[in-house]
Amino acid sequence: MTETLLRGRLLTFHREPAGPEDHAAYSYVEDGAVLVRDGLIAASGEHGHVAATAGDAPVIDHRPHLLMPGFIDAHIHYPQVQIVASWGSQLLDWLNGYTFPAEAEFTNAQHARAMAGRFCDLLTDHGTTTAAAFCSVHASSAEALFAEAADRDMRIVAGKTMMDRNAPDSVLDTPRSSYDDSKALIAAWHGKGRASYAITPRFAITSSPEQMEMAGALAAEHPDCHVQTHLSENHDEIAFTAELYPGARDYLDVYESHGLLGPRTLLGHAIHLKDREIGAISETGSHPVFCPTSNLFLGSGLFDDSGLRARGIRNGIATDIGAGTSYSMLRTLDEGYKILQLQNQQLHALRAFHWVTRGNAEVLGMADRIGTLDAGSEADVVVIDPRATPAMALRMDRAGSLAEELFVIQMMGDDRAIAQTYVAGMPRKRKAHQEAR
Ligand code: GUN
Ligand code: FE
Repeated sequence: MTETLLRGRLLTFHREPAGPEDHAAYSYVEDGAVLVRDGLIAASGEHGHVAATAGDAPVIDHRPHLLMPGFIDAHIHYPQVQIVASWGSQLLDWLNGYTFPAEAEFTNAQHARAMAGRFCDLLTDHGTTTAAAFCSVHASSAEALFAEAADRDMRIVAGKTMMDRNAPDSVLDTPRSSYDDSKALIAAWHGKGRASYAITPRFAITSSPEQMEMAGALAAEHPDCHVQTHLSENHDEIAFTAELYPGARDYLDVYESHGLLGPRTLLGHAIHLKDREIGAISETGSHPVFCPTSNLFLGSGLFDDSGLRARGIRNGIATDIGAGTSYSMLRTLDEGYKILQLQNQQLHALRAFHWVTRGNAEVLGMADRIGTLDAGSEADVVVIDPRATPAMALRMDRAGSLAEELFVIQMMGDDRAIAQTYVAGMPRKRKAHQEAR
């Protein structure tokens, strides 16, 4: 048995705060502690109480930093680590000009393994402890990511992309091979350690109807796997989809008619939706995923968070690296706040930090394991330094409440504000000079 006691200011959420004054939605402990035992949280709360049960466990004192559940990224592409910040185009040209050529390099298993390792390290450097990740079309790229995540005992949701048309041959599979490869990866990885499989048809444009049928068959055969894809991100994408699927009622119907919707389905972007689509997303319990830095970078549009929520929909939030421009969920919340401001919608800090922790855990159906500091949860913890930069420190001198402090972290913070990241109880944050490698 290995035990560690992490001491600091604790913040964890019980449910989504209804507003900035909804103090019953969270627990904040000024002098708190988390007792980690064998990768799980054995106890958390007031330092005095928790320390009394800890015996002679070594103590890591993070005061005055904040301890929160590790951040969760609900949509990200690991083969795109080297095309972040590629200039000049919107979605379809960006895919053809930058993305598919970069993903083609993942036929090389050594390259995939190297990039998967760098990807996992970048996530934890930025405070992210779980991601729902797209791999490339190559089964070996998914193998590489699952292996690197397993080496770190990191919770991962991932799948090889299924794509059989409208891209270069080097990134295409076939309906049959995509089914067989996904099936083999599910058998090898789903439920092994902290890994889960996501059936991953890239989007309507790159999957033939035959392949969508295969994806639907996989989803029916493996109802405990996630499904992840993209939906209505860009107007040209929507128009091309309508040409390719002339019988579909709308874009969502391509997925709906193939049995791909449900509470385990993650729909990246979901910006330009019709009323019928919103109704069907709500009825099926599927989850749109808001990708703020990506939507701004590609000029895709403004995600209607309030409109979807008003229909009873639970939205995730994500970086969407490499169309997204930062691995940081803090930068993501910052840009998300601004996108909502443009629509006269407000994202208050308590809801923001709930969103990137317990909120995304609930979207993934994993709130019993991650996204909280409750006893029994997996010991994924982020340590935040609210005064990480001179500008943040100067601003913090006038932060009069927890909500105000959190809002400054949300708007000004990035990986410099991540003092440490624990994955299953193990410290994973690298020093700045190591990160540069
Ligand atoms: N739609 C289909 N593939 C992709 C992708 O890789 N990134 C984004 N942002 N949208 C997509
Ligand atoms: Fe994406």
